[in-house]
Formats: sequence, C-alpha cells, structure tokens
Amino acid sequence: MENLVKFIEKLPKAELHLHIEGSFEPELMFRIAERNNIPLKFTSVESLRAAYHFTQLQDFLDLYYAGTSVLIYEKDFYDLTWDYLIQARANNIVHTEIMFDPQAHTARGVSFETVISGISRALKDGEEKLGISSVLIMSFLRHLSEAEAFKTLEESLPYREMITAVGLDSSERGNPPAKFMRVFAKAREYGFLAVAHAGEEGPPENIWGALDLLHVSRIDHGNSSLLDDDLAAMLVASQIPLTVCPLSNYRLKVVQDLSNHPLKAMLDLGLRVTVNSDDPAYFGGYLNDNYIAVAEALSLTKDEIIQLAKNSFLASFLSDSSREKYLHILNDFHLSNL
Ligand code: ADE
Ligand code: ZN
Repeated sequence: MENLVKFIEKLPKAELHLHIEGSFEPELMFRIAERNNIPLKFTSVESLRAAYHFTQLQDFLDLYYAGTSVLIYEKDFYDLTWDYLIQARANNIVHTEIMFDPQAHTARGVSFETVISGISRALKDGEEKLGISSVLIMSFLRHLSEAEAFKTLEESLPYREMITAVGLDSSERGNPPAKFMRVFAKAREYGFLAVAHAGEEGPPENIWGALDLLHVSRIDHGNSSLLDDDLAAMLVASQIPLTVCPLSNYRLKVVQDLSNHPLKAMLDLGLRVTVNSDDPAYFGGYLNDNYIAVAEALSLTKDEIIQLAKNSFLASFLSDSSREKYLHILNDFHLSNL
C-alpha cells in the first residue's frame, strides 16, 4: 500500500471540482476573522473542527456559509486561494478548475470585484510561481431565486474573460435544474460553458435535467447515475464526465461506507469519471487523500488510478494543445512507473 500511496502522490493530476470557499482551513479563518475584527461562533480552531460532523449536505452548507462571513477584503480572497494553491502543489495538481460562490459574498455587501480580483490575482501567481494552470467557474446558489442568479450573471459581465463556465451548487433537494434553465441559456449566449451539481443527494432526473435543460458539459458528483440504466448508457456513449468527490460523499453520508462507493462500477462501465476533493478543509482531505481513500476501499489497480488521472485532463476545459501536453506528461509518468 505504501507503494500505491507514493504512486498517487507523484501522479500528475487535474482537479475539476473544488469550491474555493470549501478550502478555507480553520487556522486561516481565525486569522482573517481576527484581522477583520469579526466574531466567530466558535472559540478555537479545535472547537470549529470538532463541529465538522454532518448527517446531510445542509448541515455542512450551514457551516460553510457561516465560515465565509469573515471574508471581506481582496487580500482575504487572495489568501484563501493562495493557501489552496500551495496544497494543490503538494498534491501534484498541475491544473485546477476552481468554483467560487459570488452570492455568498455579494449578499453580505462584498463587491463582485473584490471577490474575483483576489481570487484571480492568486491564480495568476499560481501560474507564474507554482506552474499550476487554472480556470474559474462561477456557481449560482440554487437555494436562491432565479432573479438573484440573473443579477449575479449581469454583475459578472465586466469580468467575462476571467470566467470559463457557470455552475450550480448548494441545496439540491427542492431546487431542480429547471429553476435555472433561463439563466443558463443566457449564460451560454454570453459564451460561458456550463457545469452543475446533480445526483449528489438528488435523483437521476436531476442529472437528466442538467443535461437536457442546462446543457452542461459535465456533471458535478452524479452519484445517482447508475440508478438509471438509460442515463448510464447515455453517459458512457457521450463520455460526459462526472466529477466525483469520494471523501465528500462519505462525510455527507451520500455513501455510508467508501467500499460502497459507485466509482469502481462507474469505471468498469466506461464512464468518464474523475476524482476530486470538493471542500477539502471540511471533509478531511485534499486530492491525494481522496485518491488514496478510494484506491484502498475499492482495491483500485495502478492502471485504474492512471485512468482516473487521464480522465481528469480529458474532462477539463483545457485547450487541446495544453491537454495534449499534460497527457504526454502522464504517459511518461506511467511508463517510468510500471
Ligand atoms: N457547495 C459546496 N460544496 C457543495 C456540495 N458538495 N454540494 C452542493 N453545494 C456545495
Ligand atoms: Zn461541490
């Protein structure tokens, strides 16, 4: 197993499902809270971490939004993003596609410009100083209204060139894709690509909805895909990727045990499935921890692990030439680690 851990650690990978607000480690949260003079409900890093026990998605979301309340200035968003990029380098992530939730900040009076400026400045430094390429995905909060999503879309337009895709996250139950059909259509008119969380806590119908109504290029999570044979067959035929997040699924009780995770069955079926960390500060691990946990729980072979890394580049929004470059690097890695 030690051999496999080293292999995973050295493996070059892309991360495609990462909420920057979900990489907010308690230590940084307390530092920023102090410098911004904002009280937190918890008295220490330890007591905050001790509260990270969830029985469903909503339990986590309540803490996640509370945590964002200390982020006020451009530098706060820079520090948040930079800390993730340092972790990304340690995890051998060479390309990352980062989601951010502008409404979690603009609803508190922080400007869209402050949020995106801090994140983008860190991403630029990440490219220049750490050699990590990146794209940004702007997610709409699905528990909020269609009108609020439209307002956010309009606010993003001065920064159109900084954002590759729109996404859809937050509480899946009671907020199906149809609610955002018109916003996504408008976003696609503006040239944004689209992704959406679907089939995390919701049924396969939400995955159909994300595909047919929102016209997404990939599905975030997609755990319930295998409950519908026609859907699974369509996903295999189209090679529409799923960005699966094993430790998130375990901590949010989407799966009761990692040995029951559908990832292996998805790989066996030929789905373009990828492994990601979702909200690593809350779910007990960054990308390597996710790879290691599923490799152990599902007895994945080295070839299957390589396939997951390959899928991460194939499913990315990289240009064809960059994708080819990374696939070459991965191939060389494979040959020298047989
Ligand atoms: N926002 C951050 N993480 C999320 C998740 N796993 N599902 C839905 N919304 C989220
Ligand atoms: Zn997510």
